[in-house]
Amino acid sequence: MWVLGLESSCDETAAAVVEDGRRVLSDVVASQVEVHAPYGGVVPELASRQHVVNVVPVLATALAQAEVTLDDIDGIAVTCGPGLVGALLVALQTAKAVAYARSIPLVGVNHLEGHLTAVYLEPEPHPPFPHLALLVSGGHSSIIRVDGFGQLQELGATRDDAAGEAFDKVAKMLGLGYPGGAAVDRLAKTGDPNAVALPRLMVKPETRYDFSFSGVKTAVLNHIRANGVPEGSALEDLCASFQATVVEVLVRKTRAAVAEFGLRNVQLAGGVAANSGLRAALRAAGEADGFGVFIPPPNRCTDNAAMIAAAGYHRLTRGERASIDLTATSSMPLRTEP
Ligand code: KG4
Ligand code: ZN
Repeated sequence: MWVLGLESSCDETAAAVVEDGRRVLSDVVASQVEVHAPYGGVVPELASRQHVVNVVPVLATALAQAEVTLDDIDGIAVTCGPGLVGALLVALQTAKAVAYARSIPLVGVNHLEGHLTAVYLEPEPHPPFPHLALLVSGGHSSIIRVDGFGQLQELGATRDDAAGEAFDKVAKMLGLGYPGGAAVDRLAKTGDPNAVALPRLMVKPETRYDFSFSGVKTAVLNHIRANGVPEGSALEDLCASFQATVVEVLVRKTRAAVAEFGLRNVQLAGGVAANSGLRAALRAAGEADGFGVFIPPPNRCTDNAAMIAAAGYHRLTRGERASIDLTATSSMPLRTEP
C-alpha cells in the first residue's frame, strides 16, 4: 500500500510517499527557515503564504522522486493538528482536493502521532509495544505511554514552554539565530555544563510527568542581564549549562515513568530528539536502568511527511476514512483507542 503524506503544521511544507508504513519511497521537505529567521520565530501569516507557494511543487517532487503518479497512490494522510491553523489548512485542503478528485481514501493524522511513528521507518529493531515515548519538539514536551499505533496515553506535558521553544528562546537571547536549538547543541559540546548553576524546575515528585522550562529560560536571561551576552568559552559554558539542565529534567522524569509503569523500552521523538546531549544521556540512562532506547536519525526527528504517511497507513489499514469535512485544529488531544 502506497500512502502519500502531507504536512504543513508549522514552518515546513512536506510531502512523502511511504510503502506499507515502513519503506520511504520519497521524503521531501521545503524549509521556511529563511522566511522567518529575520523575525526570530515563525510568523503564522507568512508561514501560510509560503505553504501555498510550496505545497504543489513539494507534492509533485515527492511523487516524481518515488517514481509514482497519483494513480498509484492508495491513500492520503494529512496532518490535521495540532499546529498553526492557517498553516495546517494548506496541506489539508490540498489533500482533500486530491483525494476528492481522484477518489483516494483520506485520513487525518495528529502531528504528534506522526512523530511517534517516525522510528518505525528505520530498519529493525523497532520499539515493541507497550513502550514509553519522550516527545520533545518546538511545540510539545510530553511523556506518553504507547500501547500500539495510535494507542497513546499522555502521562505528562509541559505547563509552559516546550523544550524546543526554550532552546529557541535561549538561542535568540544569545544572538544565535532562529531556530537555535542546533546552534546551542553545537556550542554546548565544548562548554562546561557545571559552569552556570540554573534551576531544575518541576523535579518534585508531585509534579509527576509534567515539565516547565520557562524558569530556566528566565534564569538564563537574568544571567545575561547581570553578565552581558557571553562570548567564546563563556558562551559555550552557558549553552552547556542550559542544555544539561533541560536534558537532566527530561531524562529524570523519563526514568521515573519507565520505573512506575514497568516498561522496558523508550523512544525519543520530535525535533529536540536531534540534540546530541539528550540522545547520549537517554542512552546512558537506558544502559544504567536496563531499558532499550530507540531514536530516529536527526532528519526524521524534525518535521517531515514520511512520519505522517506512516501514521496514516496504520489508520487506513484499520479502516479509518476521513470525510470531506475534515478540518484543522490548533490544539488536538492525542486519540486513545481500544
Ligand atoms: O519537531 P520539530 O521539527 O517541529 C515541531 O513540531 O515543533 O521541532 C523543532 C524544534 C525547534 O525548537 C528546534 O530548535 C529544535 O526542535 N531542535 C533542537 C535541535 N535540533 C532541532 N533542539 C536542540 N538541539 C538540537 N540539536
Ligand atoms: Zn513536529
